[in-house]
Amino acid sequence: MNRDYFDQRRGSLKPIDRSGVWRFREYVLDVDESQIITHPEGATRMYERDGIFFKHEGENPTGSFKDRGMTVAITQAVREGASAVACASTGNTSASAAAYAAQAGLRAIVFIPSGKVATGKLAQTLAYGATCLQVCGDFDAAMKLVLEAAQKLGIYLVNSINPFRLEGQKTIVWELLQDLEWNAPDWIVVPAGNLGNTSAFGKALREAQAAGWIERMPRLAAVQASGANPFFLSFGENFAQRHQVQAETVASAIRIGDPVSYERAVAAIRATNGVVEQVTDEELMAAKREIDRMGIGCEPASATTLAGVRKLRNAGVMREGERIVCVLTGHILKDPGAIAVEAIEIDPTIEAVGKALS
Ligand code: F0G
Repeated sequence: MNRDYFDQRRGSLKPIDRSGVWRFREYVLDVDESQIITHPEGATRMYERDGIFFKHEGENPTGSFKDRGMTVAITQAVREGASAVACASTGNTSASAAAYAAQAGLRAIVFIPSGKVATGKLAQTLAYGATCLQVCGDFDAAMKLVLEAAQKLGIYLVNSINPFRLEGQKTIVWELLQDLEWNAPDWIVVPAGNLGNTSAFGKALREAQAAGWIERMPRLAAVQASGANPFFLSFGENFAQRHQVQAETVASAIRIGDPVSYERAVAAIRATNGVVEQVTDEELMAAKREIDRMGIGCEPASATTLAGVRKLRNAGVMREGERIVCVLTGHILKDPGAIAVEAIEIDPTIEAVGKALS
């Protein structure tokens, strides 16, 4: 299809045309329009600040990019006759799964690492009505358990290992290209945890090029937290072997030591002449403060992008004048615990106000 089709749909009033996922439906899922379960999602903003573009996927209905994959996975779950869906999650997938399952009338069962999920995400997941199983262990343990549970109990799995999730997440890339009037940027920068997005982005770019929507291939930069860096370690060895680590980082969304979509993510980095970078908790939190102070805001994992850009520029990998799009994956309110509370307490008098402001 010609990309003009997608541009025309942006002006349409039909919910599936307004969805930033289903606007591209012919390339997402072969399905009858009446079967689509959409909030709608996507159609997120693109900001430009100091010469860098930020595609804010935290502006999705449940506050993260996961909704783009979830609308497709839940649509498919219903088509396959599922009555319950399950996922392991660091919080965003679970919130999204819970919301879409509620819309579809399915039961959602989520496996989360006990005590390691940000407050906003846990509250959302419960509010949307999911059954929350807090696994005593880390995300990797929860992931192993849900794989076994899905198989033995016959529950439909909606983690990004589910190929329908990735079909939806491809549209992050297509929509950002569309935002740029199909002038491909030099770089697309994405946080890397379980590697679903990195994989989906590679597929999206290959398909966009094959369809003739873009003339040249942007390079992918996947950024990990240095305390949860198995993909970075593999990249350093030209992907000679797969690594597993005991993950620890303030960016709880990407506190993942054994990512499930490793193979497909390697293919994505190779196909785009991409790179993998790592940033420390200090670096990513400094970048988060910068993004917050721009008046945009994001959760810690999302800020690995800007921190990664700073590092890659210093190293000369990213050059002056190159066009860069950072994908912000989650909303600032997802993880209020990561924001230092510096509000000044005062007496209810005008003198106290004057004193506080001086
Ligand atoms: N950013 C945010 C805000 C996330 O929630 C995640 C993953 C990532 C980045 C990493 O993306 O896994 O595709 O490499 N969150 C998952 C979850 C693991 O359960 O919500 P990825």
